[in-house]
Amino acid sequence: MIDINTVKSKIESVGFLDVDIDVSIDIFAEIEKLKKEKNAIVLAHYYQEPDIQDVADFIGDSLGLAQQAEKTQADIIVFAGVHFMAETAKILNPGKKVLLPDLKAGCSLSDSAPPELFKKFKEKYPDHLVITYINCSAGMKALSDIICTSSNAEKIIESLPKEQKIIFAPDKNLGAYLNKKTGRNMVLWNGACMVHEIFSLEKITKLKIRHPKAKIIAHPECEEAVLTVADYIGSTTGLLKYSQQSDATEFIVVTETGILHQMQKNSPHKTFIPAPPNNSCACNDCPHMKLNTLEKLYLCMKYELPEIIMDEQLRLAAKKPIDRMLEISKQYGL
Ligand code: 13P
Ligand code: SF4
Repeated sequence: MIDINTVKSKIESVGFLDVDIDVSIDIFAEIEKLKKEKNAIVLAHYYQEPDIQDVADFIGDSLGLAQQAEKTQADIIVFAGVHFMAETAKILNPGKKVLLPDLKAGCSLSDSAPPELFKKFKEKYPDHLVITYINCSAGMKALSDIICTSSNAEKIIESLPKEQKIIFAPDKNLGAYLNKKTGRNMVLWNGACMVHEIFSLEKITKLKIRHPKAKIIAHPECEEAVLTVADYIGSTTGLLKYSQQSDATEFIVVTETGILHQMQKNSPHKTFIPAPPNNSCACNDCPHMKLNTLEKLYLCMKYELPEIIMDEQLRLAAKKPIDRMLEISKQYGL
């Protein structure tokens, strides 16, 4: 064991514990042992690397993960995802320890909405209600009336009277898609996800010509032009379910590549083709999600650091709109 002050100073400088792990240890077995010893649960998002998904107790989309975090009896929640997800778990569980393998695992979409700027923007629309996508900071949540995710956004909007004026933040692509679906005219904040904006309509169209029977399935964070060619649009859980239930055997998957692991596991006889980005980079891998590794996950469980710590006043203000989301989702059986 390294002394705790060294652990803390390493985390302060790089966001995680960058020490070598004895190569002879079985990390998978050690993680299982730590889970039992510490009554810890590992929650993972579908965009995590396959090894992390395989050690997780629950894998899900943002709504599923928040719901699991709300109901868990574990003492420690190890969140294999990005910062806003772990922060949401902490907001719902002030008495539990919430760990994030790499504290620097952020989100470009969340970063596109700084609370100070949003507060000024919101002041221009005093009669509007604020619906905010869960991909945002606690500061943004505290300025919101209801939080939503890609799997419940439509239902949440439709639960409000038609004449209700709404600001939707921070994702302009998801907001535009929802405006179209619900016939509303929500005011949109100009934010976006760097991963979902990178897909190339031209390359997807060429792929479709080569695989004419393939279904194009896309996440609603993608740009409108890409969504117009999609056969199905949904959250990561929605995309996964569709790929299982559809009679099609080939799919062009327009979202972060991590989801392909579960798709392939659940439907081994089907073919999943990751949609290409608009240049030759691997930009359809989220650089934030992929900061977490199995080694960092093991170390954070062993040392119980990095931990999410929150100001209590901010936590309480951010909890209100999350509670509203969870309540509405329950009403609709989501
Ligand atoms: P969902 O898993 O809720 O669809 O969200 C996708 C995403 O981009 C998470 O960062
Ligand atoms: Fe954020 Fe996009 Fe990465 Fe999701 S995929 S964590 S929205 S940057």
